[in-house]
Amino acid sequence: MIAYLTTEQFLPELQEEIKNIKSVHGNLIIADGPVQDSVWAQQIWLNPEVITFESITQAAKALKERGKLWACYSVDNHRRAQLIQDNLPKLKPRIMDFLSPLPSDPLGAWTLLDKNTLLVSSETNSVFPLGEIQFNEDKKNPPSRAYLKLWELFTVYGVKPEAGQKVVDFGSCPGGWTWVLQQMGCEVVSIDRAPLEPHIARLPRIHFMKTNAFTVKPEDIGAIDWFFSDIICYPEKLLELVQQWQNSGLCRNFVCTIKFQGKTDFATLKKFQSMEKAKVQHLYHNKHEVTVWIKTSSP
Ligand SMILES: C[S@@+](CC[C@H](N)C(=O)[O-])C[C@H]1O[C@@H](n2cnc3c(N)ncnc32)[C@H](O)[C@@H]1O
Repeated sequence: MIAYLTTEQFLPELQEEIKNIKSVHGNLIIADGPVQDSVWAQQIWLNPEVITFESITQAAKALKERGKLWACYSVDNHRRAQLIQDNLPKLKPRIMDFLSPLPSDPLGAWTLLDKNTLLVSSETNSVFPLGEIQFNEDKKNPPSRAYLKLWELFTVYGVKPEAGQKVVDFGSCPGGWTWVLQQMGCEVVSIDRAPLEPHIARLPRIHFMKTNAFTVKPEDIGAIDWFFSDIICYPEKLLELVQQWQNSGLCRNFVCTIKFQGKTDFATLKKFQSMEKAKVQHLYHNKHEVTVWIKTSSP
């Protein structure tokens, strides 16, 4: 048995994705194992156990026997769940700085299936409580909150460009991603139909092109190390743009946001997933969109 946690907003997507579902408990899907790849799970509970208990003390003891630190996913019986959690060692918030190392203390997850039944997983796929990733945010420099998607990808997944590399940032306005990439020490070709915020446009190593991204040919830019795109467009259109750059041989690393308007476009999502070396994930900081990255050069 494996359990997959998401948010209320993306429960339909997770239900579409996960096979052999046994039951759904709030936003937690319980399915027969083995573990399945998931785009939409915010956290995967890897070794869930069902444990019956009578008293709060008994429940807390069962948890303590299996691990030290626990995050509670509370669906109903909130008061009872809180009483159990209060009997466990206090879990400090895990608030990250950009590019800081990940917490190393193991962290489990649990929920109450009913008044007398725990579902307990001492192992999960995320070191963050219920997969919720919080940063010490920069409230001064980035002009939008989109930068948090790159902070998450670079810090948590370790997928990031190096200082001195040349990158293109498509759909860059107002400039959050361009700012992150510039801060990483990259040479940034920043492209949007709308202008960058002036305090971003003024920074060194940023070359802004005010144009339609779909009219820019790879040969116009030349060889680059990374292709970034946060353009608002249909997934099919983004796929064509990525393929055009792949076919040009001028870029080997890609990070893109696939944005959905209305319904999730599962068919195009599958096409991205089937690309060689592609990883598709709904990041904690993604809205109704997912992030795809394709890294074919090292480091
Ligand atoms: C979500 S915003 C990007 C936010 C940006 N990554 C940041 O961190 O500030 C999407 C951008 O895509 C741009 N966009 C949409 N279609 C475009 C196109 N055909 N060519 C260039 N930019 C486009 C919009 O102007 C908008 O600025």
